[in-house]
Amino acid sequence: MAANPKTLRVLQKDMLTPDIAWFKLGAMDGQALAPFTPGAHLSVVTPSGQTRAYSLCSDPHDLSAYALAIKREASGHGASKSMVDLLEVGHTLEVKALANYFELAYDVPEYIFVAGGIGITPILSMMLHLQGLGEKRFKLYFCTRSTESTPFLDLFTSEPLASHVHLHHDQGLAGQQFDFWPLFEVPKAAHIYCCGPQVLMDGVKDMTGHWPSEHVHFESFGAVQVAPEDNETFEVVLAKSGQRLTVPKDQSILEVLRLAGVPVPSSCESGTCGSCRTPLLSGEVDHRDFVLMDDEQSGQIMVCVSRAKGPSLVLDL
Ligand code: FES
Repeated sequence: MAANPKTLRVLQKDMLTPDIAWFKLGAMDGQALAPFTPGAHLSVVTPSGQTRAYSLCSDPHDLSAYALAIKREASGHGASKSMVDLLEVGHTLEVKALANYFELAYDVPEYIFVAGGIGITPILSMMLHLQGLGEKRFKLYFCTRSTESTPFLDLFTSEPLASHVHLHHDQGLAGQQFDFWPLFEVPKAAHIYCCGPQVLMDGVKDMTGHWPSEHVHFESFGAVQVAPEDNETFEVVLAKSGQRLTVPKDQSILEVLRLAGVPVPSSCESGTCGSCRTPLLSGEVDHRDFVLMDDEQSGQIMVCVSRAKGPSLVLDL
């Protein structure tokens, strides 16, 4: 079985919409890539030098290449801009991790997919996977601003997927959002998979509070995309050495520790791989990772993405 790739080559790049680029990525030696499950993501080092996680949007049955679709976030940190503006066919991309925290359940009677904008990427991989298995019991509700801003429009408006897709564009409807309540009012045995802007995920969360929690799944990369200007500066105290380090708004705890020569293992730098898990002695944490379980959060922190809610944190380092 192929090992997780360390470097991929860009084989093809297409603009799906004015600000969403689609990349086909292959192995450097042209061989089959490592298997992945639908909902998986790749953590890559973007041309801006920042590490970011992007969902794979290709069919997991096809290991000749992976595909990513990335939206150029004009007001973001610069990582997505660098991917869309600077990454071209023939360039290479360093891969930090291939992981999945948005796994598809099997043997379920029905799938309801809810996606907003670029949140379609892991859902598309799931749909292609199910289609490849001959599964027909799935339906996608895909919300975007307009047809022009809808990635994969051709795919979703032609068979075999079109009959599984309901498209909702809120622009021509004065911003009116799709009303999910009739869909979720009566809990079913179906499993719901939702990925998109926080407002969409919050809405689905609110409307499915009476569903069995194990039937409702969210992918929330958006949660780690906090703009640096919304961060606060704080201090970390290293209990073993007594060192006090300031973490500025635009740096992670991991980066500050690295600059201070304090070794902490790391890989994805996007809160998904689990390698930078660090024991926490005190302080209130703004947990932004996808790794720690609720009962782990009081004593541990993923230092690549999480921050302090208060003035300081004490780490067992
Ligand atoms: S480096 Fe992967 S979770 Fe922090």
